[in-house]
Amino acid sequence: MPGLRAPSDYSEEPSRHPALKINAKAPFNAEPPRQALVSSYVTPTEFFYKRSHGPIPVVDDIERYSVSIKGLIEKPKEFFMKDILSLPKYNVTATLQCAAIWGGAKLADVLELVGIPKYTNTTPAGGKFVEFVSVDRCKEENGGPYKASIPLSQATNPEADVLLAYEMNGETLNRDHGYPLRVVVPGVIGARSVKWLDSINIDSQDCKGFFVQKDYKMFPPTVNWDNIDWSTRRPQMDFPVQSAICSLEDVNVGRHGKITVKGYAVSGGGRGIERVDISTDGGKTWKEASRYQKPGIQYVADDEKSDKWAWVLFEADVDVQSNTEIVAKAVDIAANVQPEKVEDIWNLRGILNTSWHRVHVQVRHSSM
Ligand code: MTE
Repeated sequence: MPGLRAPSDYSEEPSRHPALKINAKAPFNAEPPRQALVSSYVTPTEFFYKRSHGPIPVVDDIERYSVSIKGLIEKPKEFFMKDILSLPKYNVTATLQCAAIWGGAKLADVLELVGIPKYTNTTPAGGKFVEFVSVDRCKEENGGPYKASIPLSQATNPEADVLLAYEMNGETLNRDHGYPLRVVVPGVIGARSVKWLDSINIDSQDCKGFFVQKDYKMFPPTVNWDNIDWSTRRPQMDFPVQSAICSLEDVNVGRHGKITVKGYAVSGGGRGIERVDISTDGGKTWKEASRYQKPGIQYVADDEKSDKWAWVLFEADVDVQSNTEIVAKAVDIAANVQPEKVEDIWNLRGILNTSWHRVHVQVRHSSM
């Protein structure tokens, strides 16, 4: 495709921060050290997790880069970067595992330019889904590009804040995160936020690609690899309520027993965090943590000043007198609560393990 190219090997990968914890080198899959997540509400770009499925694409000529919008619409059209940049720019703080401020055009505005009005469920030609197609080469797609889709009703709803983003944290998107243009679907699992966008296809059905049909689906406990029928379950969209303690890696507590527990909590679909409970006795008794997005300002879920699509950071001072287990559990504004045990949400693919986060702490009894 003109302007944007997918290398066939890993010889043109960008450089990355050495502190990232690498889960796989090629394709690159890495996460930040947990502490980095609570040191600032917006995750610095170099620490933001990176999850790709093939070599990172290269822009050879940004002037020639374009995105075509086609399918079940009346006015197919090609958009160059200057066309996207000429649309109103929005900054949306959203968490895709880590939190960033994404800057870009609203997809709802772009779709209007191909004749699809805001708040559309179906185009006259029967289009109900918006498929995003990239250029990268993924083995799961037999060497073809990564793709995913969302409902047209979400794409054309300006309040859903779906972006074609060209900025991350105030800077031009970098290659790892989708330069020159990526989709950001707030409140939804990261797999739908397609990077290195090449084309948008309006279709009557959900995308038929691997990552929509055969990857992020949740199956009941009766399903195993011998009897699995992928078509029986819907693709995962909103992510469930979750939290993690980030301040207690390899912690040793001194004799005085005072520690501060810090972490993050987030829920999908724009549902705010109503409460984060902390236990110092493995879940028998609880204490409520304080929550914030902006340092020093108490977070209020659903308040117009809060960032609807972003996580909250939490903090609680607790006393720990002997070796124990610290637990965090979040509740969202729809009263969804994290499940206690992983057994309750066991599923074949091992996805969405949002059970209580537990961290063991050791109390040192050194004489002082
Ligand atoms: N888009 C493309 N083109 N290729 C990919 O491999 N990975 C997806 C999504 N978009 C992916 C993609 C997945 S699984 C996730 S979780 C997010 O991008 C990760 O985004 P990030 O690397 O910017 O953190």
